[in-house]
Amino acid sequence: MAVQLATTFTGLRFENPFLLSSAPPTESESNIMRAFEAGWGGVVTKTIGLHPVVNVDGPKTKFLRATPESTQLSMQKRPGTALHSSWNWELISDKPLDWWVPRIGRIKQAHPSRILVASIMAGSGTDEELRHWQALAAACQDQGADALELNLSCPHMDRKDMGSNIGKDQGLISIVTQAVAEVARVPIWAKLTPSTTDIVLEAGGAFLGGAAAVTSSNTFPSLPLVDPDTLEFEMNVDGFVSSGGLGGPAILPLSLAKIAQLTQAFPDKAFSGIGGIASFAHALNYFLLGCGTVQVCTAAMLDHAIGPNVITALIAGMRETMERHRWTSLDDFRGIRRDRIVPHSRIRRPDAKAYHGGYDAEGYAAAETAETTER
Ligand SMILES: Cc1cc2nc3c(=O)[nH]c(=O)nc-3n(C[C@H](O)[C@H](O)[C@H](O)COP(=O)(O)O)c2cc1C
Repeated sequence: MAVQLATTFTGLRFENPFLLSSAPPTESESNIMRAFEAGWGGVVTKTIGLHPVVNVDGPKTKFLRATPESTQLSMQKRPGTALHSSWNWELISDKPLDWWVPRIGRIKQAHPSRILVASIMAGSGTDEELRHWQALAAACQDQGADALELNLSCPHMDRKDMGSNIGKDQGLISIVTQAVAEVARVPIWAKLTPSTTDIVLEAGGAFLGGAAAVTSSNTFPSLPLVDPDTLEFEMNVDGFVSSGGLGGPAILPLSLAKIAQLTQAFPDKAFSGIGGIASFAHALNYFLLGCGTVQVCTAAMLDHAIGPNVITALIAGMRETMERHRWTSLDDFRGIRRDRIVPHSRIRRPDAKAYHGGYDAEGYAAAETAETTER
């Protein structure tokens, strides 16, 4: 049976539904070219802004790892560990728009059939800031960018009118999206922060402003851990740390919960899912909940910077899974588990006879008795 990996999302044809998300894997022309050669269906550029950016001294990203059979969770490199998450406090691209513009053009010329999404970000406090959004959008689409992703979700922002601070305000989200829509000839995707009480409200603001899709999740606000020996944060500059973003395996279930809220509230809208994807089994969750594309960052960063093995495995996994379930296209399985998420009260309870009032302690280790320890 012939399976078809190609899909249409926000009116754009993707050879496959897998994208590299806006992050270090997409921060340069050479990386993006390599990513397309490796097979990624699309790429979202590292976020481009108009304000000059200077990153913190020292590393911008580290990886938190767990040790099997112990409770140790640490960024220290050590053998035999499993990835728990990435933690970063990297800002948007430190390259100016002028640097990006010719590169977007060259990338599109070299790979006309691949989808290049330009991630952009400006402020929202003044009309001038709104014009910055428009300038960024116009410059990128004029070079052939296929879509624009609005970064309304960067978690490390001191400015009240930028990044995830916009993403926490449905009114501002609408205003910014509308300002971009006034100049956009290509679809607009709004990348929202997961750090709000009800992401459905913010998504409503984005759709009202003219977004064709919502992307979720950016990283989750978080801190690195303190080293118990030195009493220093595992990542710090001069002993100081600031809130940064958690990505990778740890956020997969968290991000799925956000996506489920979104796709249930807007079953007919388009969603691009991100968070903790390293294999097709992970990506499948997002598709079953209703996403039309998915994006990857942490897993790609750890695989030759742009994830050649990750994309090969995603494509092979999608093919194999579709053949096994006799699906011919993504439309056959997109959203088919969306209605399995229900209010807690709708989950069946045991009948009265079988219910022991919660004293079963099911799932917890039994207290040790003389009998169990002697065995
Ligand atoms: C080092 C680093 C830099 C990032 N920079 C950006 C960025 O510039 N713009 C953006 O929208 N998201 C950025 N992200 C967020 C990722 O695109 C992605 O949403 C997040 O890492 C979750 O995906 P993952 O679990 O696959 O890592 C960054 C993530 C990391 C780890």
